[in-house]
Amino acid sequence: MDYFHYKNRELLCEETPAAELAAKYGTPLWVYSKRTLLHHLRQIQKAFAEVDPVICYSVKSNSNLGILKVMQEAGSSFDVVSGGEFFRVKQAGADTTKVVFAGVGKTDEEIRFALENNVLMFNVESEAELDAIAAVAGSMERVAPVALRLNPDIDAKTHAKTTTGKKGNKFGMDIERAEQLAAKVLGDKRLELRGIHMHLGSPILTTDPYAEAVVKAVEVVEKFRARGHDTRWINLGGGFGINYRKQEALPASAYAEVIVPAIKAAGCRLALEPGRFIVGNSGILLSRVIYTKREGGKLFVIQDAAMNDLVRPAMYDAFHRIWPASPSVDPPSDYEAELPGCEPADVVGPICESGDYLAKGRWLPPMQRGDLVVTFSAGAYGMAMSSNYNSRPKAAEVLVDGSSHKLIRRRETYDDLVAHELV
Ligand code: LLP
Repeated sequence: MDYFHYKNRELLCEETPAAELAAKYGTPLWVYSKRTLLHHLRQIQKAFAEVDPVICYSVKSNSNLGILKVMQEAGSSFDVVSGGEFFRVKQAGADTTKVVFAGVGKTDEEIRFALENNVLMFNVESEAELDAIAAVAGSMERVAPVALRLNPDIDAKTHAKTTTGKKGNKFGMDIERAEQLAAKVLGDKRLELRGIHMHLGSPILTTDPYAEAVVKAVEVVEKFRARGHDTRWINLGGGFGINYRKQEALPASAYAEVIVPAIKAAGCRLALEPGRFIVGNSGILLSRVIYTKREGGKLFVIQDAAMNDLVRPAMYDAFHRIWPASPSVDPPSDYEAELPGCEPADVVGPICESGDYLAKGRWLPPMQRGDLVVTFSAGAYGMAMSSNYNSRPKAAEVLVDGSSHKLIRRRETYDDLVAHELV
C-alpha cells in the first residue's frame, strides 16, 4: 500500500507528478510520500493499540530529520544504534525518555550521552557491555535502565546478511543465559532490569518467527518473575516485511494477532522497532537515463543513480520494481515476468564496478536518453546506506505532502565532497 500511482501514464507521488519534482530538484532524487509514511505508522499503532505499545521507529532505515520529524509529530518514538542517531532524534524533538538504544559496540561516550538524555533502555548485547554501562552509570551516580538482548535462535529466513536472531550471529546473548544475566543485573545497584529485547532479522514476510519469539520471551519473563523480579518490557524489535516485488506484505494486524494475546496474558509492556515497514514503500528513487547501449548481446540502460545511492541490489541481490515515470506501456502487475512490448535490460549506474546495477535482465519498455526512471520501495536503507563512492555527491531528498513538496536534504556539491579534508 502506497501513494505512488500512475495516472494517464504519468507517475504521481500523492498529487504531485514525479516529472515536476525531477525538473525542480534534479536527479537522482529521493522522493518520499508523507501520506504513505503516516499510513504505515498508523497501521501499526492501530493494530497493537490494545496493549498500548511504544513504537520506536528504527532510525537506521531512514534517518533524515524531515522523516524523523513526521514520525515524532505522529507519536512515534525511536530505536537508535549510535550516538549519531541519538543526536538526530534529539534534533527532531524526540522525547528521549522513550528512546531505546541497541548495538553491539556502544562506547562509554555513547552510553554517557544516552544516560544524560534519560534513555528508556539500553538493549544490552553482551556481558562486557553490562559492565561498561554499570561503570558509566556509577561514575554519573545514576542507575542505568537495561533490557537484555537475547538471541532466541530463530531462523527468520531472511538474507544471510540481515538475519540476526540465529545462534552464531553477533547480536545479543544466548537465551539459555538469561537467568544468569538477570541475576548479574539485579545484583548491581547501578543497573535496573527493565525487560528483554529480541530482533529476529529483516525483512520477515511471515508471522511464525514472531509467534515463536514471543513465546520464548514470555517464558523468560516468567522465569524472572519466579525469582521475584517483575520484568515489565518485552521488545520484539523490527523486521516486518514490505512489498518489494508485488503485493506480498502482511498487514500490521497479522503480526499483532500473534503477538498481542501473549503480551496481554503476560501483563507486559510491548516495544516494537519497525523501520522498513514504515518508510520502505514510502520512498522512490528517481533517476534519468544518460545513455542506452547494446553490447555483448545485451541492452544496458545507463542512468544517473548508482550503487552509491542504492546499494541494496549490489549488496543483497535485492529486487526493486523499476519502471519509467512516463511509460509507453502500462506498468505490469508482475515485474518479474517477460512483458509484451518490453525487452530485458540491465539497469546500471555510472560507477566503475560491475556490481553497480539496480536490476539485471529486467523487462522494460523502450527507454531513451533523458527518460525518467523510477525505482520503487527505496525509502528504507536507501539514502541511509548511500555513500560518496566515485566522488559522487549524495542525491537530494524531497518530502511530498499532497500537491506540495519540500526539500528535506539539498543535493551535495563538489565543495561538500572535499569539505572535511585537510591539505
Ligand atoms: N531493531 C534492530 C535491533 C535492528 O537491527 C533493525 C534492523 C531494526 C530494528 C529495524 O528493522 P526493519 O523494521 O527496518 O526491518 N540494510 C538491510 C537491513 C538491515 C537491517 C538492520 N537492522 C536492508 O537493506 O535490507
